[in-house]
Formats: sequence, structure tokens, C-alpha cells
Amino acid sequence: MIRIVCVGFIVVLIGLAAYAGVTLYDETLQVGRMWETPAVRPHEAPLPVMAGTMVPAIGGELLYRSADPDTLAAPFDLADPQAIAQGRQGYGYYCIQCHGTNFDGYGTVGQSFAPSPGDLRSARIQNMPVGRVFHEISYGIPGGRQPALASTIAAGERWQIIAFLKSLGARP
Ligand code: HEC
Repeated sequence: MIRIVCVGFIVVLIGLAAYAGVTLYDETLQVGRMWETPAVRPHEAPLPVMAGTMVPAIGGELLYRSADPDTLAAPFDLADPQAIAQGRQGYGYYCIQCHGTNFDGYGTVGQSFAPSPGDLRSARIQNMPVGRVFHEISYGIPGGRQPALASTIAAGERWQIIAFLKSLGARP
């Protein structure tokens, strides 16, 4: 009998020590444990009421899509060195596989296209209105094979890529 009491006592002691250890450790945590943070069950709180202006019904992509490509202008200065640097990165993410490191259409994927994606540094493309380039990379070329990337690349990033392409200039 005394043995059982002793063992029980030791077990309780170990339990208490473990509990104290965990509690002490919890003190060092930066955020609380999950059981301490408030939990809101479904439908417990009333749904927040959205402000009428929360969902834009004008502007954005729709505005770009309906704009005249020949007069559509970039929302910032395309000569901005920071935009150009960002555009270089964007080109490396979204265009290089087709248009290539040399911008001539001989990328890993682009080289299999017939005809090739073309030369982005040709005088024709370098002199094309920026709004038209924006439209072609955003919504594709009717009957052509440039992918429509409007839902893949944010509008600002598309303009940055155009800034980068313009900075390259026409091939000498
Ligand atoms: C899946 C491959 C692919 C990707 C990715 C791609 N392109 Fe193209 N691009 C093409 C092909 C193919 C053409 C030729 C289109 C045609 O004439 O039908 C083209 C044509 C173009 C043209 C010339 C359009 C003209 O009027 O001749 C521009 C400018 C262009 N791409 C820019 C870009 C930019 C910028 C990116 C990245 C944001 C990009 N492309 C991503 C395949 C691609």
C-alpha cells in the first residue's frame, strides 16, 4: 500500500514539474497559445458591413482594356531608372522563356514557335506606341500567339516591363 502511495506521489510530482516547465516556457512565447487567443465561431459575430466604395466599379483593368491603345499612356515616367530595374526583373519572370535573353525571340520556349516571337529590339516594336505594347501583352494579339497576360501580371508591373524594353532601344 505504501508503495502505491509513493509511486502515486512521484507521478504527481513529475506531472507538476512538467506543467511548471511548460508554463514557464509559455511565458517566453511572443504570441499566446491558440487556446488563449479569442475564437469566433461561424455566424457568432455579425458580418462586417462593407463600405459602398470598397469594390471598385470603375477604373482598373476595364479602363485599360477600353482605352485607345494608340493614346494610352503609362501612369509613370517610363524613363524612371527604378521602374526600368523592376521591369528587367519582370522580363526575367514573364517574358524571357519566349523572347529570350537577347530579346530576339529565341528563348527556351520561343525558339519552337514558327514564326519566332520576333525581335523586341526591332525598330518596329521600339517605335510602337507604348499603349499598343501594353494592350498586346495584356490582352494578346487578335489572331496572333502572344499570350494575354493581364490576369498574370499586375498592370504596374506590365508598365515596368515596357519601361525596361524601351530602355533597350532599337538594335544598332
Ligand atoms: C508563350 C510565349 C510568350 C511569352 C511568355 C511572351 N510572349 Fe511576347 N510574343 C510571343 C509570340 C509567339 C509573339 C508573336 C506574336 C504574333 O505575331 O502572333 C510575341 C510577340 C510579342 C510582341 C510583338 C508584338 C507585335 O506587334 O509584333 C511584343 C511587344 C511582346 N511579345 C512582348 C512580350 C512581353 C513584354 C512579354 C512578357 C510580359 C511577352 N511578350 C511574353 C510569345 C510570348
